[in-house]
Amino acid sequence: MKSYRFLFLSIILACLTFFFTSCGKTSHVRVIKLASSLSPSAPVTKAFRYMNKKLQKKSNGTMRIKIYPSGQLGSEREALELLQIGSVGMTKVSAAALESFDPAFKAVDMPYIFKNKKQRFRVLNGKIGKDLLKSTTQYLMHGLCYYDAGSRSFYGTGKPVRKPSDLKGKKIRVQNSNIAVQMIQQLGGSATPIPFGSLYSALQQGVVDAAENNPPSLYLSHQYEVVNYYSLDKHTSVPDVLLVSTTLWKQLTPQQQQWLQESANESAKYEKKVWAKTTKKALKKIKQSGVKIIHPDISLFRKKVQPMYKRYKSNYPKVYKRIQKIKQFQNENSSAQHDSL
Ligand code: GCU
Repeated sequence: MKSYRFLFLSIILACLTFFFTSCGKTSHVRVIKLASSLSPSAPVTKAFRYMNKKLQKKSNGTMRIKIYPSGQLGSEREALELLQIGSVGMTKVSAAALESFDPAFKAVDMPYIFKNKKQRFRVLNGKIGKDLLKSTTQYLMHGLCYYDAGSRSFYGTGKPVRKPSDLKGKKIRVQNSNIAVQMIQQLGGSATPIPFGSLYSALQQGVVDAAENNPPSLYLSHQYEVVNYYSLDKHTSVPDVLLVSTTLWKQLTPQQQQWLQESANESAKYEKKVWAKTTKKALKKIKQSGVKIIHPDISLFRKKVQPMYKRYKSNYPKVYKRIQKIKQFQNENSSAQHDSL
């Protein structure tokens, strides 16, 4: 009797083992952790969900993405460090955060580097942008695609910024980016790098007088609640970048790599559409909340930052070469002067 019971239990155990190790989907699903500093309703987060759907479909349910939004896994800098050691599979950061890991990105973070939106996308989706994505590999990251992050403009408390001299004496929050710090200095302000997640209270408590960002980020982070103006000088058009850890990338089969790359590309196209809609809505809501929207003379700001380009020519020839490539490419492709960024 005892041996029958033992046999019965052994069969059950064998069945369960078989189920969980070979048939059970969960044991075969590769779940990729994706860290982002932005909110669950940000256009990029919507794009991650879209990418996840595409990836699950392409891989027959064997791959999926688990999203950790709102800086749950740390700041963008911390997420990049986790990516390098393989603790996080993917992350989306601003190209500004990448600068201190891969200096090549400084070129796209320069103020007024792009003539307009169309040219920005031609640069990023063309050879220059693709080379930049590839350049991350030496830093243990693999660039997958760019997301639209629009243009960044100043907002804050106190006297509105209508011309560069209004920035004088103002403490301005910037991203952890050399270019951003230099740009603020050049414009006459004083730059303070603070992680995005701490900015709401920094503005509220007067730790900084101003900050700069695109309309969706200003709106979705609720920072518009603690500022009184938004001055659309559109000084930079820093793209967002999606990266995968090289540790993870190397573990994937060529087929899995292809599924992931395709899903990322499709999500980038999707995000561009969501971005346009969200920007419109954000500007409307910010205005409705009582924040004064200012349309300053952009040429004053553009002129004021030009010495930065000269400085790069003599001090950072490699970055300068890339800047020149971007400018040359745009000049060859469009006779348009700077217009709607
Ligand atoms: C943008 C960008 C984020 C970044 C933020 C910032 O919103 O998309 O990736 O964290 O700017 O200013 O820190």
